[in-house]
Amino acid sequence: MVLGVLVSGSGTNLQAILDAIGAGRLDARVAVVVSNVAGAGALDRARAAGVGTLVVEHARFPDRRAFDTAVVEALRARGVEVVVLAGFMRIVTDVLLGAFPMKVVNVHPALLPAFPGVHAQKQALDYGVRVAGCTVHFVDGGTDTGPIIAQETVPVLEGDDEKALTARILEKEHNLLPRALQWLAEGRVTVEPPGPLAARARVRIETR
Ligand code: GAR
Repeated sequence: MVLGVLVSGSGTNLQAILDAIGAGRLDARVAVVVSNVAGAGALDRARAAGVGTLVVEHARFPDRRAFDTAVVEALRARGVEVVVLAGFMRIVTDVLLGAFPMKVVNVHPALLPAFPGVHAQKQALDYGVRVAGCTVHFVDGGTDTGPIIAQETVPVLEGDDEKALTARILEKEHNLLPRALQWLAEGRVTVEPPGPLAARARVRIETR
């Protein structure tokens, strides 16, 4: 499975993917890491692993669709099959989603459908939930609304601040994202359309 990983930040989830590939836990290859932020730490992680990088600065494009067009071109040129949003802090458009239908995967630091969008961990703390977590899902046209592939929970502890909860969730993300990608690599993930049993498209994972 050829991956293209889109990043904006420190890239610890990218690192988890690279480590899982290195350890033989993820049968995939990262063809390119694309960042919309020139100084993103994720780029250093990619270079250290010998993975090609590309900076596509969103401010240079008139709109989101023009930015996505440039990203799609770069991904296609490198034979990417599955696109991973690993801390990619941009809303993607139909240009990317149409080029990779149900092949764009996002990791989000909350138990969706609760707390979509930015500052998910703070939203969870502010709400007073007792259990938080992370979600790996296919990206659709909404914000963090696409079919859920996998989730992992963490407790919210007395005295937690945003930093503590973020770190506890992030540790789970590092395990969950490569695991979900491996299911994809094994061809075990199917998106079932809405039907009599479910009003939404849902993911089915074939057990082995
Ligand atoms: C992760 O917690 C990821 O879930 C989140 O950004 C962080 C990136 O960390 N993504 C989002 O909030 C997207 N809506 P990383 O750069 O160290 O992987």
